[in-house]
Amino acid sequence: MSDEAKRMAAGAAVELVLDGMRLGIGTGSTAEHFIHLLAQRVKAGLSVTGIATSERSAELCSRLGIPLTNLDETPSLDLAVDGADEFDGALNLIKGGGGALLREKIVAAAAKRFVVIADASKQVAVLGAFPLPVEIIPMARQPLSQRLAKLGAVVALRQTADGKPFRSDENHWILDCAFGPAITDPPRLAHTLSGMPGVVEHGLFCGMTERVLLGSDDQVTVINS
Ligand code: 5RP
Repeated sequence: MSDEAKRMAAGAAVELVLDGMRLGIGTGSTAEHFIHLLAQRVKAGLSVTGIATSERSAELCSRLGIPLTNLDETPSLDLAVDGADEFDGALNLIKGGGGALLREKIVAAAAKRFVVIADASKQVAVLGAFPLPVEIIPMARQPLSQRLAKLGAVVALRQTADGKPFRSDENHWILDCAFGPAITDPPRLAHTLSGMPGVVEHGLFCGMTERVLLGSDDQVTVINS
């Protein structure tokens, strides 16, 4: 899928930003387009305060001059904008491909409006072709892997290029759970995962998304919840 489609979606999201807004700022390649386009508006005089969903996005925002705050100072946000790995017809999402799902969910939940920016490769009939990231406490790896396998997932510990366990910004591990395109009831699976001791958070975002801005090379389609 082209980078232009992601940029188009990001551009439509930047148009939703109004002067004075408190903004949640996502993570990933589509969110990085949003950050670059937002920075152009900030340079032109727009006043916003952002909360980034990852160290990576925070670093980019700082470099481009977007003022940042935190949830202690600003516990409630006007709008959060983020990418997704998959979304279905009910706007349930899989997120966390970039490993930022925990902070992404916290920030999205703190926002009055949560808008997803995506290209067509992310739109699916049934979630699950993209392995579902589950953020865990390291000591729970084996029991959780067994429980997740019993639910039908092929489970893999996410690793860095040099073979070490990937660490999230909050210093947890991530199990990537390949269910196949078979997550027919995302809220139910989300509930089950949330009840497993050792699971810090999972990448199913259910009932949170107000709209998806779906970019293509020449247009943006708005899909409302
Ligand atoms: C990071 C995420 C990203 O939003 C998701 O992986 C989409 O990334 P991209 O825009 O690069 O396709 O959830 O944790």
